[in-house]
Amino acid sequence: MVSKKEWYQEDFWVKIFTAMPEEIDPDRYIICTYYITPKEGLDLKSAGMYIAAEESIGTWTKVTTMTERVYKLAGRVFYVKKIHREVGLVKIGFPLELFDLDAGISHLLSIIAGNLFGVSDLKNVRLLDVHLPKEFVRVFKGPKFGIDGVRQIIGTSRNPRPHLGTIIKPKVGLSPKETAKVAYEAAIGGVDFIKDDETLTSQGFNPIEERVSNVMEALDRAKEETGRTVLYAVNVTADVDRIWKNIEIALDNGANCIMVDFLCTGLPILRKIAEDPSVKVPIHVHRCLHAAMTRNPEHGIHMLVLAKLVRLAGGDQLHTGTAKGKMEKPGTGAPKELENYSGVKGIRYINDFLRGEWYGLKTVMPVASGGIHPALVPANLELLGYPDIQINAGGGIHGHPRGTKAGAMAMKQAIEAFMKGISLEEYARDHLELKEALEHWGKKFLVK
Ligand code: 3PG
Ligand code: 3PG
Ligand code: MG
Repeated sequence: MVSKKEWYQEDFWVKIFTAMPEEIDPDRYIICTYYITPKEGLDLKSAGMYIAAEESIGTWTKVTTMTERVYKLAGRVFYVKKIHREVGLVKIGFPLELFDLDAGISHLLSIIAGNLFGVSDLKNVRLLDVHLPKEFVRVFKGPKFGIDGVRQIIGTSRNPRPHLGTIIKPKVGLSPKETAKVAYEAAIGGVDFIKDDETLTSQGFNPIEERVSNVMEALDRAKEETGRTVLYAVNVTADVDRIWKNIEIALDNGANCIMVDFLCTGLPILRKIAEDPSVKVPIHVHRCLHAAMTRNPEHGIHMLVLAKLVRLAGGDQLHTGTAKGKMEKPGTGAPKELENYSGVKGIRYINDFLRGEWYGLKTVMPVASGGIHPALVPANLELLGYPDIQINAGGGIHGHPRGTKAGAMAMKQAIEAFMKGISLEEYARDHLELKEALEHWGKKFLVK
């Protein structure tokens, strides 16, 4: 038996599992970029070949059942860049023929993010990026609304500006009537978007039907007073039968947006919902659970890859992180050669992907959320890009010393000030709510 470490070195296998860059046609290959830390004794190129083999036609040894025809399906390493000793980047092209396009995202993941993370010869592997050819992307319908569609509902198409969202807080525990009261205050104060928190679904203290009917009634009232439409993303997250029931209840009670915790439910469910013709409202995508995959700079899956999958699946808005806020920026601590994939730069890279052209699929609105309050608005907008972004604040609105309405006004004023190129301190001179917010949080809560 040839040991697994030896077979990588054989010319025969090198020919099968490696290629020159010009042999990898981006229209015919799915191309993955992995950041690999091999275990002691294994070189980077061989580590890449192990992944190429494991995820296509190979295993840890030669098999007697191999045929010439099968070789054509091999994944091929065509780029190797060492960053530190044998740690570095490897690009692997997987031929399109390897993929079952009808099996969609589930099958794609089984190859590009499959067994490889557990291979014992590899200490760490991080899937940083995936290039998907047009033929693959075109199988998917993508978002129904995208940034433009959401802007049309909210009424910001002509003068695009960042959208302001809030999460009802406390995240669980309020009754439907209490939730509706908070929603009304937020709407009157000027938010464009309200959402349930990711852990609120239809618990006994706040059943979904009562909640949606009360909140939508409150938002109708607010609309009569202000003329503005506010989206309410109802969290429908649940196992498969119940999620459809929740969607039905939400839509029957007038919901104008729904929210899915996409990693808790799985991407295929998100796709099914987005492609269902009866769902005629935007889908807000929360990503709790993502950090288990995205946070470690050396291992897991970069959020950029997940963002691409959410766009394929049809999410209209997606949480991608804050430049300044309460959550860690994924990939923090990665080597400087990977700066586009770590920290704030990494988030900006994702946001620009979601806002950009991708074989005709609609765009996705990036959402910055988690620990934001008015003093953090300028830095978030500057670093994450604007106007195509939604800034959410939960505590940063409902924690305002004079309550939700004043909190919403303060956040709105902070966005206005930034868009007018005026400093918050100056704008606060004749905007009381902002002044109060800055006094309340400004100094103590200025996060790095
Ligand atoms: C929250 O639920 O508090 C945050 O939105 C989570 O952070 P994220 O938006 O970066 O996923
Ligand atoms: C979210 O789901 O996005 C949040 O819970 C953010 O809440 P926060 O602004 O209070 O951190
Ligand atoms: Mg939350």
